[in-house]
Amino acid sequence: MKVLVSDPLSEQGLTKLNEHFTVDVLTGLSEEELVEKIPDYEALVIRSGTQVTRKVIEAADKMKIIGRAGVGVDNIDVEAATEKGIIVVNAPEGNMLSAAEHTVAMMLALSRNIPQANSSLKSKKWERKKFMGVEVNGKTLGVIGLGRIGAEVAKRAQGLEMDILAYDPFISEERAKELGVKLMSVQEIAKEADFITVHTPLTKETRNIIDKEEFDMMKDNARIINCARGGIINEEALAEALKNGKIAGAAVDVFVNEPPFDSPLLECENLIATPHLGASTQEAQINVAVSVADEVISVLRGGSAKNA
Ligand code: MLT
Repeated sequence: MKVLVSDPLSEQGLTKLNEHFTVDVLTGLSEEELVEKIPDYEALVIRSGTQVTRKVIEAADKMKIIGRAGVGVDNIDVEAATEKGIIVVNAPEGNMLSAAEHTVAMMLALSRNIPQANSSLKSKKWERKKFMGVEVNGKTLGVIGLGRIGAEVAKRAQGLEMDILAYDPFISEERAKELGVKLMSVQEIAKEADFITVHTPLTKETRNIIDKEEFDMMKDNARIINCARGGIINEEALAEALKNGKIAGAAVDVFVNEPPFDSPLLECENLIATPHLGASTQEAQINVAVSVADEVISVLRGGSAKNA
């Protein structure tokens, strides 16, 4: 049987797949190229780069499983896959700690202007006054989405002595208590938090969950972090809030269009950004690749999938 890997996958995952199947690694394919090649394969393994559209799925006549080496399946037309009887699996746990650590790194970098100060010093300037920061100690962090990653972020932020507010319609008061967080609506968090971080998947319900209306409610010194998915926070509204000083700053790892070279966000001085690096650690990439390889092996041998 043949497996197509169409985004870079760690060696450990490829080795596992190679022990059982013929594996082709073909990255950077256009939709047309993918449509042309896909009929030959029983499995497709991707990260966030490949867009698995309905057109691609309709051409995938032998396909049994699509494996996403990561959490978000928003780059797969899951409905089309289900209609065609193709199992879609992800790797929900392998990169959660890396994503949580990146979020905390972004929050601290944002609060102390580290990227801007680094660039300034490297251009031979000594601007100590310009980069006055704020402490996170004693501040309130609003976590929108208290799933696996959101809960890990909350735990780490509590270690930094922050108070945590959270919005998550799927979390019970009991679980919130256990995590030491106070549940609130998005609007209440917008009004009260000093820092806000989003950790939901991108769905119809969460798209633009933070929009102009919420920015208008925020404190002037609020700081926003998005290491989850582009589109959860409305990018135009965020750019506007940053430009007119409605909020103090933002740290963004993910964008509606990636790479985001036309995004108004990149023009904002009080925005720090990374190129979708939340899961980019050696540990996370091994974890997700091995997890997805195991799922593909199981399904192609007639077994079941754990994370379908
Ligand atoms: C994920 O959904 O797992 C992350 O965004 C990481 C990635 O896309 O590789």
